Amino acid sequence: MEEYYLGWIEQVEKSLSRWGEPSLIITPRVIAVTGMGGSGCVGDYIATLAGLKHGYRYPVIVVKNYRLPSYIGGNDLVFVISYSGNTLETRHIYREALERGVETVVITSNGFLEEDAAGRGIPYIKVTPGIAPRTALLEMMLAALNVLDSSNLTIVSKEDVIKLKNFLKETMRDAYNLAVEIAEKIYRNSKNLVIATHSPLEVIAIRGKNEFNENSKIPVKIDVTPEWAHNDIVGWEKPLTTDWQVLAVKDPDDTRGMKLLEFMETIYRDKGFPIIEIELKGSNMLEKLVYGSLVIGLASVKLARLRGIDPLKTTSITRYKEAVKEILGEP
Ligand code: F6R
Repeated sequence: MEEYYLGWIEQVEKSLSRWGEPSLIITPRVIAVTGMGGSGCVGDYIATLAGLKHGYRYPVIVVKNYRLPSYIGGNDLVFVISYSGNTLETRHIYREALERGVETVVITSNGFLEEDAAGRGIPYIKVTPGIAPRTALLEMMLAALNVLDSSNLTIVSKEDVIKLKNFLKETMRDAYNLAVEIAEKIYRNSKNLVIATHSPLEVIAIRGKNEFNENSKIPVKIDVTPEWAHNDIVGWEKPLTTDWQVLAVKDPDDTRGMKLLEFMETIYRDKGFPIIEIELKGSNMLEKLVYGSLVIGLASVKLARLRGIDPLKTTSITRYKEAVKEILGEP
C-alpha cells in the first residue's frame, strides 16, 4: 500500500502527459464537484484552492451525497467522480445531472460510469485502475484541475503541476520518514486521535480523518480553528474521557493561522494531551495540501502496520455498499 502513495509522482507525470484535454466551452454559474469517500475528497481540495485563488469568479461546491442541490441546473458544471465507477450515491448524482441537462464530466477508472459516459459521448477521464480509490487522490484531483485549466477556468496551471512534480521528487523521502515517526508516536501514545489545524487547512484534517479511518481503522475527531474556538473548545472543558492525543497541522507561512493554532495547543496542553506536530512544506497551497496529505496518508498506513492490520481492506464499506442497494435502489 505504501507504494501507492510513493507513486504520487507517477500520478502527477501521467496527469501532465494528458494535460489540455478534454476542453469545454462553458462559463458556469457554479462548479459542483461530486463523489463519495476517497473520490469525494477531491472536491474539498478543489474548493479550497478555488477559494484562495485571487479573482476566481466561479463558486465551487462539494457534494458528498446522492442528490444534487436544487439550484444546480443547465448553466452549471458538474464533476462526477467515482474511482470504481459504481458507487451508488454518485450514480444517482450522475443520473440527476443528465436529467437536468447539466454539463457533466466523469472521472473514473472503471465500471458503470466509464461505460455509460463512453456510450453517451460524455467527456470523461479514465484514471489508472487497480489501486485503492483513496490512493488515487492526486490523479483524480489533477484530472479535474486539468479540465478546468483546459476550459479557461484555471485554478491550477500546467506550470504549477510541473512544479508540484519537482517538489514531490525533492520531499518524498522526508515525507516518508516523517510519516514513520508520526505513526510510531501515535502508536506509543495509544490514545484517541484529534487532528487539529487552522483554516484554510480543513481539507487536510478531513482527508487525514478519512485516511486514519480507512487505513488504520480508528475513529478520529477534527478540530479546526477559528470555528473550533466557538464550540469544540467548550467540549474540551469536561470530556467523557481524557484519553486523547493531538496531531496538529500548521502552515508556517500563515502568521495568523500559527497564532490561532498556538492558542489551541494551550488548551490541549492544559488537559495533558500529547501533541504531535506537522509543519507543512511547499511554496504554494497546492504543494502544502499535497505534502500534508501525503505525510498523513503514509502515517495512517504505517500505524496499521504497527497494529498488525491490513490497511487496504475496508470490510465495513463493502458491507454498506451491499446494504445501500436496498436503501437507495438503482438510479
Ligand atoms: C476506498 C475509499 C472509499 C471509496 C468510496 C467511494 O479506498 O477510499 O472511501 O472512495 O467508498 O468509492 P469510489 O471512490 O469507488 O466511488
